[in-house]
Amino acid sequence: MQGTLNEELALSLKGRDFLMLVDFKPEEVRYLIDLAIDLKQKQKAGEPHQLLKNKTLGMIFEKSSTRTRVSFEVGIYQLGGQGLFLSGSDLQIGRGEPIWDTAQVLSRYLDGIMIRTFEHRKVVELARGATIPVINGLTDLSHPCQALADYQTVLEHKGRLEGLKIAYIGDGNNVVHSLMMGAAKLGMHMSVATPEGYEPDANIVQQTKDNASETGASLHICRDPKEAIADADIVYTDVWASMGQEAEQKEREIAFSAYQINEDLAKYAKKDYLFMHCLPAHRGEEVSEGVIDGAHSIIFDQAENRLHAQKAIMAAIMS
Ligand code: CP
Ligand code: NVA
Repeated sequence: MQGTLNEELALSLKGRDFLMLVDFKPEEVRYLIDLAIDLKQKQKAGEPHQLLKNKTLGMIFEKSSTRTRVSFEVGIYQLGGQGLFLSGSDLQIGRGEPIWDTAQVLSRYLDGIMIRTFEHRKVVELARGATIPVINGLTDLSHPCQALADYQTVLEHKGRLEGLKIAYIGDGNNVVHSLMMGAAKLGMHMSVATPEGYEPDANIVQQTKDNASETGASLHICRDPKEAIADADIVYTDVWASMGQEAEQKEREIAFSAYQINEDLAKYAKKDYLFMHCLPAHRGEEVSEGVIDGAHSIIFDQAENRLHAQKAIMAAIMS
């Protein structure tokens, strides 16, 4: 029965874009996490898993990256294919070539495109113009590859996802948007605390709540970090100023000064809480050194799982 279900899920994912977690059914999200764990085991055991032999992934970067670039490039290589790094400023797209034309042309050479850019609209347009799968490698709105890898990491550490409480404290940004949607798909309870004016996007909040009812998940948005973190199994934060917001760094440091995750605040979480951060992090700003480098932190497991989760995404949609 499980085998038939997995075959159906595998079939339903083939050829799809990976733009937002909201586009996927709860069982598809869970299937991708299970596939990531399976591919991780195969890689560690040295078992061949060349599911994308001779396929090419183009990787467009209009923003900086360490984890996303390296994990996609190594990931496609381990799957038997190759990755092509394309800097946004060197492509004709950077000089005004229409996204539609770029999408059509790249579809004649490649088997998949990963893009990291600013406006989410650009990724949607690229996917509309492309005849091959497009993967969102981070936009100002969302970072679904991150959330998938993060929930894989939680599952590995806690042995379950459903019913766990995740608290996010900080900026209502791309990372929290994807975490919210992932939590809704996976039956988790999420609390988000942000300063006034830095709340998550209202549409995403609504979509999350709509999706949560299907899985028994819940979403609570508040101001008070102590309220959000109370009895949390997972405590998550991200930078106060994301890529493209560097000019707001100083005003954000003031607005977020009461939102640092440190030893005092962490006391309100569960005793065996996990600390998570997508990285890169700023020690002494959104998180204290003691917490990020302490016994509860699983930040490097998260970073590693970007590789395995993205291999699962590529294998599912590009094969
Ligand atoms: N977390 C993450 O996406 O890291 P990079 O910006 O280094 O890719
Ligand atoms: N919110 C951060 C995430 C980096 C991976 C940013 O967009 O810069």
